[in-house]
Amino acid sequence: MKERLDKILAGAGISSRSDVKKLIRAGRVTVNGAAAQSPDMKIERGASTVRIDGAAVNTARYRYFMMNKPSGLLSATEDRKQRTVLDILEGYERNMGLFPVGRLDKDTEGLLLLTNDGEFSHRVISPASGISKVYYARVDGVPDEEDAEAFSRGLVLADGTQCLPAVLEPTGSSACFVTVYEGKYHQVKRMLAAVGKPVLSLKRLSIGGLKLPDDLESGRYRELSEDELCKIFNGN
Ligand code: URA
Repeated sequence: MKERLDKILAGAGISSRSDVKKLIRAGRVTVNGAAAQSPDMKIERGASTVRIDGAAVNTARYRYFMMNKPSGLLSATEDRKQRTVLDILEGYERNMGLFPVGRLDKDTEGLLLLTNDGEFSHRVISPASGISKVYYARVDGVPDEEDAEAFSRGLVLADGTQCLPAVLEPTGSSACFVTVYEGKYHQVKRMLAAVGKPVLSLKRLSIGGLKLPDDLESGRYRELSEDELCKIFNGN
């Protein structure tokens, strides 16, 4: 399907639609090597190479990023008082309409996906997809095999909420790995509280087969490769 050039560039986060029009009229945008003639020129995403001042523009409709979320930021698109994960985006990513896929608590760190694809977000979050999320929790107390068994049976939380079976791997110290297949509010904290091991700190390490890369520092983010995107739905 062909779409308007100015719409595609605005959606890619380049600038507002009116500024994009100015760029095109100034002859700074090329499509397949030739200067774009007008903002309403129609092109096929993917089939055309678009450049601004010689720099290639990613014209894909949907974009997928991973962030190593630091503690202290809200998983939200905006908040009147507090900083959100979108506040640390830079450049074009600020204007792409990205939003966090699900939520990590303000004090939780680690792997957070960002996208502008609502359907993708729903698929990742929905318990029906059965996508695993692995967390590393430091806790008060030493989680043991008895706790692991309670997790595997499917815990009932303090308010009566029934959880799906989950995996707790004790480490022999005041920490454990927890794998869940759903995303209830404060889920991991409430599950560990239910077995008397309140959480001191929490970090998400993976979503499906996608692991938080060791070299993605806290507060940094980058676009996912095709391969990484596939891993989310494979290798649970
Ligand atoms: N479970 C929690 O309790 N908090 C998170 O941020 C994620 C999972």
